[in-house]
Amino acid sequence: MSEDLKIIKGSKTENYLSIIPQIKALVEGEPDLIANLANVVAALREQFGWFWIGFYLVKNDELVLAPFQGPVACTRIKKGRGVCGTSWQQAQTIIVSDVGAFPGHIACSSLSKSEIVVPIIRDDEVIGVLDVDSSELNSFDGTDKKFLNEITDLIQFRVLK
Ligand code: SME
Repeated sequence: MSEDLKIIKGSKTENYLSIIPQIKALVEGEPDLIANLANVVAALREQFGWFWIGFYLVKNDELVLAPFQGPVACTRIKKGRGVCGTSWQQAQTIIVSDVGAFPGHIACSSLSKSEIVVPIIRDDEVIGVLDVDSSELNSFDGTDKKFLNEITDLIQFRVLK
């Protein structure tokens, strides 16, 4: 597809419904993992303007920073640590409306106020997470959970074990 994205400014659901087919078109037919993860975070940041969005991949029993958009971030996160490590441990999406109230939250930036972390699951195993940070409180809800899970489902088969 052309590299130009069509960015709409509608409701949250409309925005996801517009960007997800474009993300599918971007990754379709491209086998390179890094290229695909990089384009997914770039497309999501362009659509939503979030403060930080990125992937962490499980490597040697740690989450290791992968393609992201935004300020520099923590490189390695252990299982059960922070929002990302908790999502990995529980194999569940975690929505944090106020990161200051989440015990053990890892603050890569003091500007991050709310967060959602979605696990990437393949063959019943968490192989990474998608982490999104907002500079505002209460940014994420069930709509983000639903659509971001669609996106991690879309890319899970491309992540090498
Ligand atoms: N806040 C995350 C760490 C990653 S950064 O937000 C990019 C956590 O608590 O796991």
